[in-house]
Formats: sequence, C-alpha cells, structure tokens
Amino acid sequence: MTYSIRQADMDDYYFVVEIDLLDEGVEGENPYLTASFEEQSEYLGRLAQFLDSSLNTGETELYTCPKYALICEDVETKERIGLVMFLFRDMNDPTFQHLGIYDKFDRSMFPTDGKVCEIFQLWVAPDHRRKGIASELMKKAERVARDSGIQMIYTHTESVNDHVVELCDKLGYEVIRKGTLWDETVRVSQIKHLG
Ligand SMILES: CC(C)(COP(=O)(O)OP(=O)(O)OC[C@H]1O[C@@H](n2cnc3c(N)ncnc32)[C@H](O)[C@@H]1OP(=O)(O)O)[C@@H](O)C(=O)NCCC(=O)NCCS
Repeated sequence: MTYSIRQADMDDYYFVVEIDLLDEGVEGENPYLTASFEEQSEYLGRLAQFLDSSLNTGETELYTCPKYALICEDVETKERIGLVMFLFRDMNDPTFQHLGIYDKFDRSMFPTDGKVCEIFQLWVAPDHRRKGIASELMKKAERVARDSGIQMIYTHTESVNDHVVELCDKLGYEVIRKGTLWDETVRVSQIKHLG
C-alpha cells in the first residue's frame, strides 16, 4: 500500500469530527457528550477552523491561531487512514489561555518569542498501525511548523499511553513533566526543539 499525506479540507470535516469524537487514547467519558448544545457547537466550529483558515476568527488567541490538519490516505483507494492536527500557539499573546496547562511549566523552557506548535490529535486506523504512519504524520507536522518559523513542538498524552510517549521519544522529544494538568488525570508532557 502506498500512502500520501496532504492538508485536510472541508471535504474531510465529517472524518475529522468522527475521529475527534472517538476520543481514542483518552480514558473516561468524552466531555463533549455531556456539554451543552452551545459548547458542542463552539467545539465543532473550532474543529472546522483546522480545515479552513478563513474560519479562524474570534476574540482570543485560541480562535485566531493558525490550525492545521494533515490526512494520510491510501493513494489507490483514497481511504483516510491517519490524521494529525496541530495549532501554532502564541504564549506571549495576552489572550493566550489553555486550561492553565502552560503555567505548570518553567517558562524558560519555551522560546522567548512564545511560539509553540501544539499537537492536538494523532490517530491511525487500527489496520494500519505499527507501520510508521503516525511517525510520518508527526514529522510532517514538524516540517510545517519549522517552515513557519516555529522553534518548538509540544504534546501531552495520558500516562497510561506509554506507547505514545515512546513514539515521541523515538522522534527526539524529551519528557518535561509527568503529573496532573487541568484535571485528575496524570499526563506526560513532551517537547522537541525544532532547531
Ligand atoms: C498511537 C498511534 C497514533 C500510533 O500510530 P502508529 O502509526 O501505529 O505509530 P508508529 O507506527 O509510527 O509507531 C512508532 C513507534 O511508536 C511505538 N508504538 C506505537 N504504537 C505502539 C503500540 N501499540 N505498542 C507499543 N509501541 C507502540 C513503537 O516504538 C513504534 O515503533 P516500532 O513499531 O518500530 O516498534 C495509534 O496507535 C493510534 O491511532 N491510537 C489511537 C489514538 C491515540 O491513542 N492517539 C494518541 C492519543 S494522545
């Protein structure tokens, strides 16, 4: 099977929503399911921003920051077999907020320009796992970030996901923290300098 990686567009919207709501690799109940209608609509709107940058409007950095979704697909069948989503956050923006996550880290670990690429979603179809697809998606995200002048990439995963920590470790990420972030779940935070 030959696959290619491309930027997602609005034709991929239902796929992206489906994978995001699947919430695989995350323990406990998906908060989306118990959210109010308004919160659900806002969340779905934000997912659409990953596919169409003209939708990147809003009052805070989280809404205006650049967002990307890359799809891995089977060249022959066009089946979508992988997804990575990421955002270029700006810690120096006065409207920057992220559930207090970044307050947990020593700010000196991050670039002084405040710019960081944050991985939001990583998924590969079960039948295609352990073939290096997630690693290729992560590397492509790194290239997009580096080409945009971003010097650091950040990700976290629940500490039960040892294999995801290992995946990032193999890509050169370093663990900077293991502990709770915004709820009771212990998560491992990893960064990589994009020198
Ligand atoms: C995690 C996930 C994205 C990995 O995708 P993948 O394409 O299989 O990953 P790769 O093939 O690039 O794996 C690279 C390395 O990571 C580690 N790894 C990945 N999945 C692993 C697993 N299930 N068990 C053990 N190690 C694993 C291995 O070291 C692997 O190298 P190896 O195959 O040479 O041993 C995929 O299993 C998935 O979609 N899971 C559900 C969603 C999820 O958990 N996302 C992350 C949430 S934060």
